[in-house]
Amino acid sequence: MSVPSTSDVALSAAQLSLSFGGVQALQQVSLTVPAGQITGIIGPNGAGKSSLFNLLAGSMRPDAGQIHLGSVDVTRLPMHQRARHGLVRTFQIVRELDSLSVLENLLLAHPAHSGDQLWRVFAGRAVVRRTEALALERAHALLARVRLTALANHSAGALSGGQKKLLELARALMLSPAILLLDEPAAGVSPALIEELCSFILQLRQEGLTIAIVEHNMDVIASLCDTVYVLAEGCVLTHGDFATVTADARVVQAYLG
Ligand SMILES: Nc1ncnc2c1ncn2[C@@H]1O[C@H](COP(=O)(O)OP(=O)(O)O)[C@@H](O)[C@H]1O
Ligand SMILES: [Mg+2]
Repeated sequence: MSVPSTSDVALSAAQLSLSFGGVQALQQVSLTVPAGQITGIIGPNGAGKSSLFNLLAGSMRPDAGQIHLGSVDVTRLPMHQRARHGLVRTFQIVRELDSLSVLENLLLAHPAHSGDQLWRVFAGRAVVRRTEALALERAHALLARVRLTALANHSAGALSGGQKKLLELARALMLSPAILLLDEPAAGVSPALIEELCSFILQLRQEGLTIAIVEHNMDVIASLCDTVYVLAEGCVLTHGDFATVTADARVVQAYLG
């Protein structure tokens, strides 16, 4: 298992196509997510944003095209193997287990708990204890960063929509990603928490994380993204900085439909 260093990691897609029966969801889509930057993906409903994200994260396979993580071709790798190469996603619909505590949700996300537990049989007790101690330490550190420490032992079901999004982000960070794919992180989040979420995401970039984000909230896209890709009808319409792409007449037209 090799986790690439953040300095050379970038995610790239070349000529991705995907269809559902007669519907061409994506048509020869190419994009680059530069290392250490935040790349946004926007576009009107049905443009293909979720489909592209599913291909990048590994929950779907393209009909044609390639996806590279750094120099590694991951096009056919399942999601958990991409995670080992440093690529981790969050979901638009959070997947917290409501009946478990906030802390337990984080511990469950740790790699030591994500597969089968057979390794415990072979690893000595000291190794198991050490791994669990490290996971606990990491979980507490992340809870402090997303300001959920006071709620660590509350059931996750009691969190607000925004707090659940922060917990979802912390769960992804338990996997120590180099590249984070964020699927509508601001959806259903109150304005006050959106600000906190954005400053946290900017901090993560500062620390060297590479981030790609699908988001409907244009203020969030404007404040976070170095580069924005605009999808429309399954194709990349244009890409560039937020001000430039949103001033593009073709983009305005695509949104007006
Ligand atoms: N599982 C699916 N089955 C059939 N059609 C789908 C499926 N997922 C997406 N589509 C179609 O693919 C196109 C792109 O959808 P999607 O990627 O969800 O767009 P967006 O996320 O930008 O709204 C749409 O026409 C949508 O109806
Ligand atoms: Mg979508």
